[in-house]
Amino acid sequence: MIFTIAIDGPAAAGKGTLAKALAQHFGFAYLDTGLLYRATARKVLDGLDPVAAAKALSPHDFTRDGLRTAKVGQGASKIAAMPKVRAALIDFQQKFARQQGGAVLDGRDIGTVICPQAEIKLFVTASDEVRAARRFAEISQKNETATLALVLEDLRQRDQRDRDRATAPMIQAQDSILLDTSDLDASQALAKAIAIVALHPGLLT
Ligand code: CDP
Repeated sequence: MIFTIAIDGPAAAGKGTLAKALAQHFGFAYLDTGLLYRATARKVLDGLDPVAAAKALSPHDFTRDGLRTAKVGQGASKIAAMPKVRAALIDFQQKFARQQGGAVLDGRDIGTVICPQAEIKLFVTASDEVRAARRFAEISQKNETATLALVLEDLRQRDQRDRDRATAPMIQAQDSILLDTSDLDASQALAKAIAIVALHPGLLT
């Protein structure tokens, strides 16, 4: 069975948590595509050329320290605006999406560019304040210098760059379902998403 669940949306909207839980529920493979851009950005911070860094990604690059920091996130959003960087990463993502057994991918352009034929497309959002509070709660134990205001500013800057870029901008696909998680916790968001996916006839083939 080939079945793709594409999950897109702005930073810290809960896409990763939802995507991972959906993959586990349905027994599908899961790919955090943001990690491809973060791992590339980490190598660029080491001095590599962005396109060369994207082409040379290896499994070790995904386990390095610091991939989740705001600095690497900002770097990721800058190199993610480069068409040649995106082109270097597209083939891997497209093959992953259409593998046998089902796949869940989360990112910014999964339903629009990577897999327009995805069986299910979700666009996951939450208010800026809720997203900032979630990310702040996530990082404040590790990062004593973080403040809620700085986290909010970081997310807004990144969202604007991701929305405004010419190549594969973050945009809700016309045929996607909007899931606003502002007033939902992780398990409520998962229950809604499962209910949407479970209705799809393609699951039975
Ligand atoms: O976890 P968070 O939502 O903060 O970000 P992420 O999913 O790890 O993505 C980091 C950055 O990578 C984003 O701000 C985007 O610029 C870029 N990205 C992208 O352009 N396309 C994707 N499919 C995934 C991430």
